Amino acid sequence: MTPLAVYIHWPYCARICPYCDFNVYKSKGAGGDDLVTAILADLRQWREMSGPRALTSIHFGGGTPSLMSDWQIGTLITACGDLWTAADTLEIGLEANPDDADAALWQGYRAAGVNRLSLGIQSFDDQVLSFLGRNHDGAAATEALDMACRIFDNVSADLIFGHDGQSAPDWAADLDAALAFPITHLSAYQLTIEPGTAFGRAAQRGKTLDVNEDMSAQLYELTEARLGAAGFTHYEISNYARPMASQAQNRSAHNMAYWTGVDYVGAGPGAHGRLTTDAGRIATTAHMTPGAYINAVAATGSGILDTEALSSDEVAEEYVMMGLRIAEGFDAAHPYLNGRHFDMAELSAADLIETKNGRIMATDKGRLVLNEVTRQLLA
Ligand SMILES: C[S@@+](CC[C@H](N)C(=O)[O-])C[C@H]1O[C@@H](n2cnc3c(N)ncnc32)[C@H](O)[C@@H]1O
Ligand code: SF4
Repeated sequence: MTPLAVYIHWPYCARICPYCDFNVYKSKGAGGDDLVTAILADLRQWREMSGPRALTSIHFGGGTPSLMSDWQIGTLITACGDLWTAADTLEIGLEANPDDADAALWQGYRAAGVNRLSLGIQSFDDQVLSFLGRNHDGAAATEALDMACRIFDNVSADLIFGHDGQSAPDWAADLDAALAFPITHLSAYQLTIEPGTAFGRAAQRGKTLDVNEDMSAQLYELTEARLGAAGFTHYEISNYARPMASQAQNRSAHNMAYWTGVDYVGAGPGAHGRLTTDAGRIATTAHMTPGAYINAVAATGSGILDTEALSSDEVAEEYVMMGLRIAEGFDAAHPYLNGRHFDMAELSAADLIETKNGRIMATDKGRLVLNEVTRQLLA
């Protein structure tokens, strides 16, 4: 059966972080059953569109899905299991904020089927957390990570690096604090100043918020060295997995679906989806605000605002762009490429691209300038 990943977007947050440009809305407290009901109906509509599929992952992303009750999470997991056929290795992941750490709630998530918790630590340093506008301090980050590792076998920590003034020892201290726990995965994101965010507006007024290019390269290399020494595999630009015999290297199965061209459902406000249909591959975007999404589902049964039929060139280009992000690269003979040939002479000579076992991948050097490598490869 053709694989399928399911992404469920929970758009509410207790507080909006000044750097974040995800589709988020300030939470008005507990609740959200109306949104759960709408997502359930939207999933049924997706099943009509996808037909029977092997479900490889369900991912609760946000926003802050750890504001959801274990009952809400369990209801959505059960629905997905009823609609599609769960693969043996079904990953059910949930993004949690440290300030929502609650043993009873997280045990409830686990009982409902969640088998991977991804914790938005960002930093263990009080000053950095305050600069990032986070609701938690360093002590809460440590407590939450400890609790997560006690409850879940598979725990990932998100850290952000590259804020103005950060030194290599500062960043090493954050990495070491995370590595002190039996985490199976770490995402190290470089702080990006996004237009339209509070940081974006401050940057426009001339404020410096992030490090310069040299420092950013230094911090990136430090991440590789530190995590490599701790036995982690650098399998994607920002992602590192602790290799394990029992699972595919503890990589995020859900993100791997995006990077390898697997179809995915996008349910919940603003979620994006990709689906291969008889007429080709389509890209979907759901209604952005919770209200518009709920109303659309009530009126039509579907939360989708926009459906775009992708041309074969667009499908190929997206597959290449995503595939170059991962260490194993992309399959040069993948059907999405439609027999496309790549002129790699210049990129290979510059040691930016290599080929192995029928796959094309960026070298370590190439990954440092990935946008340019991708642009040239697709030219
Ligand atoms: C969509 S957020 C959701 C996670 C959760 N709500 C939280 O904040 O902990 C996923 C991750 O993206 C990263 N992120 C979001 N905006 C970013 C930015 N502008 N620069 C770097 N990393 C960012 C953070 O590390 C965050 O944990
Ligand atoms: S970083 Fe997380 S908590 Fe902060 S606004 Fe974005 S999704 Fe919400």
